[in-house]
Amino acid sequence: MEKRKQIYEGKAKKVFATDDDHFLIVEYKDDATAFNGLKKGTIAGKGIINNKMSNIFMEMLEKQGVPTHFAEQLSDRETLVKKVSIIPLEVIVRNIAAGSFSKRYGTEEGLVFESPVIEFSYKNDDLGDPLINDYHAVALKLITADEIEIIKNYAFKTNDFLKKFWSGCGITLVDFKLEFGKTSDGAIILADEISPDTSRLWDTSTGKKLDKDRFRRDLGDVEAAYTEVMSRLEKHI
Ligand code: TMP
Ligand code: ASP
Repeated sequence: MEKRKQIYEGKAKKVFATDDDHFLIVEYKDDATAFNGLKKGTIAGKGIINNKMSNIFMEMLEKQGVPTHFAEQLSDRETLVKKVSIIPLEVIVRNIAAGSFSKRYGTEEGLVFESPVIEFSYKNDDLGDPLINDYHAVALKLITADEIEIIKNYAFKTNDFLKKFWSGCGITLVDFKLEFGKTSDGAIILADEISPDTSRLWDTSTGKKLDKDRFRRDLGDVEAAYTEVMSRLEKHI
């Protein structure tokens, strides 16, 4: 498929049209931002790792019954994906308290939940991606009540799968963020990425953070953490 003009540039990815109206090409960058773009930096090699990791997980998730946008990896940084309109919700699943959950509810990081927690943020940079609930999302016409149930089901299935997978790599899946999109025929599919940018991954034996929190919190060894999780993943597949 032929790469045509750039149609969008996000914080970590560029998106290009193709000669087929049903497909786009995503190109992963090394750029990293945090706190709604206030903090900016580069994580060398991140784009290559996130591209590969997302594609591996999406292929695996398809087999678990979670439909995804993944079509074909084209190069180190480029992937052909099905075109969707992104539903403007960040779907966050948490197994352990951390990040904004700990801050908002005043809990220590590391409190293990008895069952996973799902929450939604309204993807809107001007508003700072506020937390919203199902009723808000339906009232705002971002999604229908039936669609939100489909998304919850896919998100929990994804959690079951990823939690088990990472556990086999000696990594604890603390939380992660997903985005879903709608195809032209109305199907809801998993889109965006699954990577250390969008997940919290802690080394199970030492508790060391192996994800983007190293960048957000200036913990150092950022590139090494991304390389470490990727090499553990590759040994496990
Ligand atoms: P939070 O605790 O800051 O709300 O983050 C929850 C999870 O979502 C964490 O794994 C990081 C991920 N995340 C993103 O992928 N994008 C974002 O913009 C934010 C704020 C979090
Ligand atoms: N990527 C997000 C931003 O810049 C935040 C994050 O991942 O922490 O705003």
